Amino acid sequence: MPHTFSRRDTLKLFGAGAAAAGASAIQPKLAWAAQQRSPTPSAAQTEEDQRESQSRAARLAWWHAAKFGMFIHFGLYSLYGHHEWAMEEEGIPVAEYEQLAKRFHPRPGCAREWARLAKRAGQKYMVMTSKHHEGFCNFASKLTNYCAPEQGPGRDFAREYVEAARAEGLRVGFYYSLMDWHHPDGARCATDPAARERFVAYTHGLIREIMTNYGKIDVLWYDVAWPLDAEGWQSVKMNQMVFGLQPEIIVNNRNLLPGDFSTPEQEIEAAAEGRAWESCMTMNDSWGYQRADDDWKSPKTIVSNLVECAQGGGNYLLNIGPTGDGSVPSESIATLEAVGRWMEDNGPTIYESERCKVTTSEMAGFTRKDKTLYVHVHFWPGNTVAVGGLRTKVLSARMYTTKQPVEFHQQEFRVQFTGLPDHPPDPLATVLEVECDGEPLQDTRWVRENRPRRGIGI
Ligand code: GLC
Repeated sequence: MPHTFSRRDTLKLFGAGAAAAGASAIQPKLAWAAQQRSPTPSAAQTEEDQRESQSRAARLAWWHAAKFGMFIHFGLYSLYGHHEWAMEEEGIPVAEYEQLAKRFHPRPGCAREWARLAKRAGQKYMVMTSKHHEGFCNFASKLTNYCAPEQGPGRDFAREYVEAARAEGLRVGFYYSLMDWHHPDGARCATDPAARERFVAYTHGLIREIMTNYGKIDVLWYDVAWPLDAEGWQSVKMNQMVFGLQPEIIVNNRNLLPGDFSTPEQEIEAAAEGRAWESCMTMNDSWGYQRADDDWKSPKTIVSNLVECAQGGGNYLLNIGPTGDGSVPSESIATLEAVGRWMEDNGPTIYESERCKVTTSEMAGFTRKDKTLYVHVHFWPGNTVAVGGLRTKVLSARMYTTKQPVEFHQQEFRVQFTGLPDHPPDPLATVLEVECDGEPLQDTRWVRENRPRRGIGI
């Protein structure tokens, strides 16, 4: 069998997989950051830690409430239409790839269309690629002419994007790839100290530009740190600069420091309680536009993913990959609009919800606000919906959208909601609102160990 080297392998090699997996096990070099702290924290450090966690909680408050954001991958690869890794994976020579920059002409107003779409979908913030691995900058830069105003677009596209998001009342984020396939020092900085010095200065300089020239930025979303480690990138200094310029911003963990939140990619994996996290996901299988990728997720899958993120106390950052002129694929528009209609009716069961300790059902997902449990039934079973192992007393139940009361019968091992319609009132997910006498808790293990099995114990 010939050895095939997949993109996943490449990502591993480039450190993205590790970064995506969270900050803890990432890199031996992270030990460097940890070593900065003494093993037994002094009183001063404890105070400092406390201040830091208070600041983090305050900075994250809007984002926790928001739950749902739009990711936008937009660059020269959008014009090429073969996925954002095409330059690397198809082995395109830099000089050939660069030609795309002259032909890149986003339609005026397309960023506003994205922002309107995000708003219709019920998304509360946007994160757009300011520079992806290809190295092209969507923003105005004094450090490179490989940027929107000096190439095909002929204008500062990042400004248009920021203004569009604000006009729709959405929070604004920039994605920024540390890895750069275009800059001559982007790879050789791994082994050449002079190149490293130049490239790290260039990187900090570009980040300074996006953190300085666009007013208040709410999220900085670093990506792929290859080929350096946190020490090489001077990530501590990088974050200090960012917080100096944008004191209220939140940053992710992909410059190989823990940052404010973790970034599971293409999967939903809740972080440990107390740690903020956001699952980013594509609507088909590509981040950047790939014209033949027809592997679209359904609106039902997306609603169920959003519920699953909210259940675990996390956010869902859902990607669109517009074409080179900025048009969003019609499949993405239709799906986001369907999700938006569902959010119009059911949004309050998602926004501002808290981590929920009811997790197990093959037909439903769960969210929670204080003592209220929301049962999001994706696969409607007919007139009775049952939840096993609920250890909290149910006080009342009703259909969320119509407020119609629902009968329920609670016994030791299950609660049944009865007298429901035979067909799902909402095919994406029908929500039951269940008032409990405390924080809703589920213990399926307890059911497994205690439910009588014809008198046979385990
Ligand atoms: C990966 C990919 C990149 C994409 C990102 C989104 O790191 O390399 O193309 O932008 O994931 O999370």
